[in-house]
Amino acid sequence: MNNIPFEEIIKKFGTPIYVYHGEKIERQYEKLSNAFSIMNSKIHYAMKANENIEILKIIKNLGGGIDAVSANEVDRALNIGFKPDEIVFTPSCASVEEIVYVMDKKVNIHIGASEYFPLLAKKLKGKKVGLRINPGVNIGGNQKIATSHHASKFGIPVIFLEKVKDFQKEYGFVVNSLHIHAGSNISNVDDLKNSIDNLFKYTKEFENLEYLDIGSGLKIKYKKEDTETDVDSYAAHIKRKMQEYNQNLKIKIEPGKYLVGNAGYLATTVNIIKQGYKRKFAGLNSGFNHLIRPMYYNAYHEIINISNPKGKLQKYDVVGQLCEEDTFAYNRLLNELRIGDIVVIKSAGAYSASMVMEYNLRKKPKEILVFKNAVRQI
Ligand code: LLP
Repeated sequence: MNNIPFEEIIKKFGTPIYVYHGEKIERQYEKLSNAFSIMNSKIHYAMKANENIEILKIIKNLGGGIDAVSANEVDRALNIGFKPDEIVFTPSCASVEEIVYVMDKKVNIHIGASEYFPLLAKKLKGKKVGLRINPGVNIGGNQKIATSHHASKFGIPVIFLEKVKDFQKEYGFVVNSLHIHAGSNISNVDDLKNSIDNLFKYTKEFENLEYLDIGSGLKIKYKKEDTETDVDSYAAHIKRKMQEYNQNLKIKIEPGKYLVGNAGYLATTVNIIKQGYKRKFAGLNSGFNHLIRPMYYNAYHEIINISNPKGKLQKYDVVGQLCEEDTFAYNRLLNELRIGDIVVIKSAGAYSASMVMEYNLRKKPKEILVFKNAVRQI
């Protein structure tokens, strides 16, 4: 990474550690920002993917904004120097108090349930408010991360938009934006495009819109054969819709994974190799307390043995050290693993360190940033 051997980083900081590659984040950002430069747009990094302060500073230096989901995230972004109007707040089932706290900071807010309006009545006069809508359409992919279908808790079902219009009159607020987020890592770009089509359908309902927030869902490569979302064709589709609807609205996009997913690595050490009844297990000094994605979403992460890259290929269940069924990969073909070998789990930049828990009293791994020829703990 930046001509620094990975082994050197391990020697200095030990394992388990997260290692991030700053330039990779920059490259992803540039790709997306070039694609969306054909329209008035802004990238709001979904900081839930990785909220480390140094990562946020990289995004800030690139000119990005923030998508936050809690008051603590908003405060972190403000403390780093993001301006309130560079932040969007799209909480899910937050308390009324939390919403009021963020509104008072003058941050753009996207309300995800019509039931909030009577509860916020006194705060709403003359305010601009965004709506997160749920069009109730099914899309493919992992249902644990799909968010705009009939059974999802997210967003205002579009059947209640008339009600919101009545509340608008009653409480004197202005709907200045519509927000949609269909899910994460959406493999079929047509699903993403359909979600945009749905969003545009409702632009006719509100007269004072200033921007559309298209959420994210951009796909990244977890497996070698995966293809990343073609952001140029996606942006071109949005531009066409804008023309078709004769609108001139700013577009906000909220990528998490796309910016940081492939910029992170979880480096671990093999504690033990053990033979079970049928399968061979490689036990790492890590577990789903550090990277929950395989166990929670059946997510695939590439795994490599960097200590023995020419070793004979063998099949392993790669497991963690928690007192749980705690498996990173089943029956995975890897170069022979030996006790002490360094095993790197790839694509661990998003929803990895940010979802760490200290179960079994095992601590959060250190996070290391390799950026501009410096290697430092962040
Ligand atoms: N905007 C909103 C409103 C969101 O809820 C999310 C993700 C994003 C943007 C960013 O989506 P992304 O670009 O990262 O796909 N922990 C799961 C993903 C959960 C996504 C939650 N919301 C995972 O590891 O796959």
